[in-house]
Amino acid sequence: MRSTPHIDPTAPIAETILLPGDPLRAKFIAETYLEDVRQFNAVRNMLGFTGTFQGTPVSVMGSGMGIPSISLYAYELIHMFGCKRLIRVGTCGSLQPDMHLYDVVIAQGACTNSAFMDQYQLPGSFAPIGSFRLIDDVVRRAREENVPFHVGNILSSDVFYNANPNFNDGWKRMGILAVEMETAGLYATAADAGVEALGMFTVSDSLVTGEVTDAQSRQTAFTTMMELALPLAAL
Ligand code: HPA
Repeated sequence: MRSTPHIDPTAPIAETILLPGDPLRAKFIAETYLEDVRQFNAVRNMLGFTGTFQGTPVSVMGSGMGIPSISLYAYELIHMFGCKRLIRVGTCGSLQPDMHLYDVVIAQGACTNSAFMDQYQLPGSFAPIGSFRLIDDVVRRAREENVPFHVGNILSSDVFYNANPNFNDGWKRMGILAVEMETAGLYATAADAGVEALGMFTVSDSLVTGEVTDAQSRQTAFTTMMELALPLAAL
């Protein structure tokens, strides 16, 4: 298997890959949920692992933070390593008052203030969307398991500490559910290559009330989200 500037695989990479932001999260997922685990990458400490989930091969790798980081990894995973289904598992800040900490958010669409889409030179603006097939499957299982979830539009922002205190107002008015920093880049990279992608998150903080999660509950919520994400490998 060839190497790229950012991935030098020492083990195979599966067609389905989960992408948490934090590489240590990737390690935790591999150790907790997968069998027959082999590490495939350590370049820049962006740890990647391949194993099986209920007999189906699945990989997991850190994406880093922000659209540039997740998009370069997604590009290499798709074009150089044959990944066909890329699933971001992350956290988000909620923008709507009917959302609670730890709820699961599924990004049907992902707006952005990033210039990333400019490269495609489209005569208009591109609307990055998640794979309906993946969304449909996650929603069906979330309903069956009574997991509180929201499906809709989110914002992948280039800015975490925004100098404009009113930045979120317009997005909120347009019904944006939550803010994170990666999914629009993942969706566009997948669309350009004709592969499936999905971004799902747990609410780690409310941008309405200022509430934040605690570490223990974050872990429990993360487990719930992983139980929704992992079966996608067998779709
Ligand atoms: N903003 C951007 N990204 C995030 C947030 C947020 O409030 N919370 C979790 N990821």
